Amino acid sequence: MQARVLNILVTGGAGFIGSALVRRLVGEGRHRVLTLDKLTYAGTLTSLAPVAQAATHRFVQGDIADAALLAELFAQFDPDVVVHLAAESHVDRSIDGPGAFIQTNVVGTFTLLQAALAHWRGLPEPRRAGFRFHHVSTDEVYGSLGPEGLFTETTPYDPRSPYSASKAASDHLVSAWHHTYGLPTLITNCSNNYGPYHFPEKLIPLVTLKALQGAPLPVYGQGENVRDWLYVEDHARALQTVFERGTPGETYNVGGNAERRNIEVVRQICALLDRLRPRADGRSYAAQITFVADRPGHDRRYAIDASKLRRQLGWEPQESFESGLEKTVRWYLANEAWWRPLLERNYAGERLGLAG
Ligand code: NAD
Ligand code: DAU
Repeated sequence: MQARVLNILVTGGAGFIGSALVRRLVGEGRHRVLTLDKLTYAGTLTSLAPVAQAATHRFVQGDIADAALLAELFAQFDPDVVVHLAAESHVDRSIDGPGAFIQTNVVGTFTLLQAALAHWRGLPEPRRAGFRFHHVSTDEVYGSLGPEGLFTETTPYDPRSPYSASKAASDHLVSAWHHTYGLPTLITNCSNNYGPYHFPEKLIPLVTLKALQGAPLPVYGQGENVRDWLYVEDHARALQTVFERGTPGETYNVGGNAERRNIEVVRQICALLDRLRPRADGRSYAAQITFVADRPGHDRRYAIDASKLRRQLGWEPQESFESGLEKTVRWYLANEAWWRPLLERNYAGERLGLAG
């Protein structure tokens, strides 16, 4: 599969992880890439600026729930691989307004599966055997861990938020399209990503930018919840590994071996900024840390066992949390032109997710 030039359709490719994958694939220059993205509040073409001029990349603005558009794009672009990242992705927004999550994550995934199935059925061999539908999902479908243990690919599903329930539903649809219709699917479930081009509603960019603005740094509850952090470029490499060499019908967990309590993450960002961009008054940014009301239904701990992906396909994270976080904070310091318009137009940093 690797030797051939592939037509790769990436949904959600103007978002955080999708754009990292598109920049990687187009940067390699081996394959042709079509990005389909609705450009919701979370998607921006500025994340694709590095590949805007590439002859091997095309962008289409559109909705994965638009069956007519999908039929047209599948016919024109004739994909060998679909990597499906388009989603509503923010847990707090799913508490305030779950409808969009059901529409895009469930109905949208269903619509995309139907289009992919019709296309796959019409492919001649050997392209039919080589076709892959890769669904990008989350460790949140497994629920919440206590102090011990890790999520594996066989951990029972137990989603707790409207977001994770919608992603669990989409995983089940993908699995059903494999078992019922034979569509060659792959599912990856990964932990919290971080890195450049991360929309500033999520913990790491939100705290970095609020620190620079001199604003309070909101830590939910006591900051004792644990997340397992994965550098986004490690994730993009894992995705490529899986759609190039993974076994159809299989699920692979992806994680960064970097469990941290939220309060540790926030303190680490403050320490980096103290070094890289000291406050004018000489005090630490940690003075801005503020404990606020907890997220309703806040999952306590996520931690991923990614040993299947290491054993079977040889993927391992390359970035440590310390090196990845420093790269990330440096990127935000150097790329105000990327994040300033998003803060002005799409999201000003207000508290989300208390409607529950
Ligand atoms: P994101 O919110 O940054 O990007 C999502 C993209 O999808 C945006 O560009 C948006 O415009 C697009 N989109 C939304 N609805 C659409 C629709 N109906 N049609 C077409 N495009 C649409 O999300 P992300 O963090 O890059 O996450 C990408 C995928 O990875 C999601 O499926 C998410 O569930 C999953 N995931 C994310 C993380 C993480 O830590 N960020 C971890 C695990 C899994
Ligand atoms: O685990 C994978 C998931 O990681 C993905 O599926 C989601 O798409 C992605 O958004 C992320 O979900 P989280 O809810 O874990 O990410 P978030 O950045 O919103 O929050 C990380 C932790 O920080 C969580 O415990 C809540 C807390 N938090 C978050 C914000 C925005 C705060 O304490 N303060 C904040 O202001």
